[in-house]
Amino acid sequence: MSDKTNSREGFSSKFGVIAAAAGSAVGLGNIWRFPYVAGENGGGAFLLVYLGFVLTIGLSVMLAEFIIGRRAQKNALGAFRVLAPKSLWWLIGLMGIVAAFVIFAFYSTIAGWTLEYLVQAAANGFSGKDASQINEMFITFQHSLARPLIWQVAFIVLTAVIVVAGVQKGIEKYTKFLMPALFVLIIVLCIRALTLDGASQGLIFLFKPDFSKITGKVILEALGQAFFSMSIGMGALITYGSYIKKDNHLPKTAFQVVIADTMVAILAGIMIFPAVFAFGLSPNAGTGLVYQVLPNLFQQMTGGYVFAILFFLLLAIAALTSTISVLEVLVAWASEELKMPRRKATLVLSTLVAILGVFATLSFSNLSEVKIFGNGIFELMEKFAANTLLPLGGFFIVIFVGWKLGGKIVADELTNSNTIKVRFLKIFMFIVRYIAPVAILLVLFNSLGILKIG
Ligand code: PHE
Repeated sequence: MSDKTNSREGFSSKFGVIAAAAGSAVGLGNIWRFPYVAGENGGGAFLLVYLGFVLTIGLSVMLAEFIIGRRAQKNALGAFRVLAPKSLWWLIGLMGIVAAFVIFAFYSTIAGWTLEYLVQAAANGFSGKDASQINEMFITFQHSLARPLIWQVAFIVLTAVIVVAGVQKGIEKYTKFLMPALFVLIIVLCIRALTLDGASQGLIFLFKPDFSKITGKVILEALGQAFFSMSIGMGALITYGSYIKKDNHLPKTAFQVVIADTMVAILAGIMIFPAVFAFGLSPNAGTGLVYQVLPNLFQQMTGGYVFAILFFLLLAIAALTSTISVLEVLVAWASEELKMPRRKATLVLSTLVAILGVFATLSFSNLSEVKIFGNGIFELMEKFAANTLLPLGGFFIVIFVGWKLGGKIVADELTNSNTIKVRFLKIFMFIVRYIAPVAILLVLFNSLGILKIG
């Protein structure tokens, strides 16, 4: 083994692995994106399709990424070079790098909003405002020029500072106690939301499926949301997988991460939708949903001032543990493949992301008129990454594990060289070889209109 391989850092404990991977998965995708996409796509029916994807395709892609990463001990692109030398499989990694750029760019816009709202909460800025004034406040902020940009850059800098510190002292150390704290706080907010007058309407919206609402678009949105929320399809979990020790039970880890991610999404729904209906708002308000709804909830609760601060603080942190994993994809790639020192890689890559990110943020203000294929810049980045790049990445990842890596290596990774028993090996191989790739393609084709199934 070369010195370089020996000095490769990794997660130090099992809980550290789960915290980091769940930290990547649980983020704005669950709390900001899940409610608004579910709200726009019919609620209960969307939830059902979403859960179906998470438990079948999602779980398999996650496990496939862990397998690739731990086997190769390399970054998202280098892993394919190691496992399939002298071939074009590394292009999957390249697609992941592109996805990481795009995702970090638009994600930092929304993450920046959490910082603005944290400051507003601390300054008691929601106090005395009714639902329409809170709405107004959000729109005014979103349309202003400097503030959203400043917060966005601040957020990118924050991410970069932690990523520079490395895997154990940066990523693992912080995620380990921040994730459980977020969980507890969401449960408290759910309880408050559920005791609002008219809460049941929100629950009906979220949990009662209306099958007539399931269309090709809803199915694609559910698939995209599953990939986005689970951090799969771009190599974030290949990168984290490469930091996981050889004795870690990968299927167990993947399962625990999926449970955590799904629970937070559902809890976020339980926290938001009762409030949406109780305050007479509309579930399909779009990207601003969480920011327009929750301040109303804080206003109504005892200790709302403190809860508001805590909530936006933890939301910012949840976003941070996700952006860390996105930036880590880029930094691990640049430092291992381009031989750039970690510090320099972090600086250069976050600067590039910030430049791209400015366009995402400005698409809510000065560039709001710019439309590409009928979408604003932000929308285009978000939809293209979640609904195209990630599912396509996932498609190639399962094909790689199912057909290229082969049963022996997969079995070796899943059973830790035959030291643990894994019962579903055959099922897993069947899913990654046939079910997942076919299902992903069907959904993508259907949404492109090449095929009509809904
Ligand atoms: N899963 C993260 C979230 O839900 C976002 C993310 C997507 C992170 C893709 C890494 C890779 O917020």
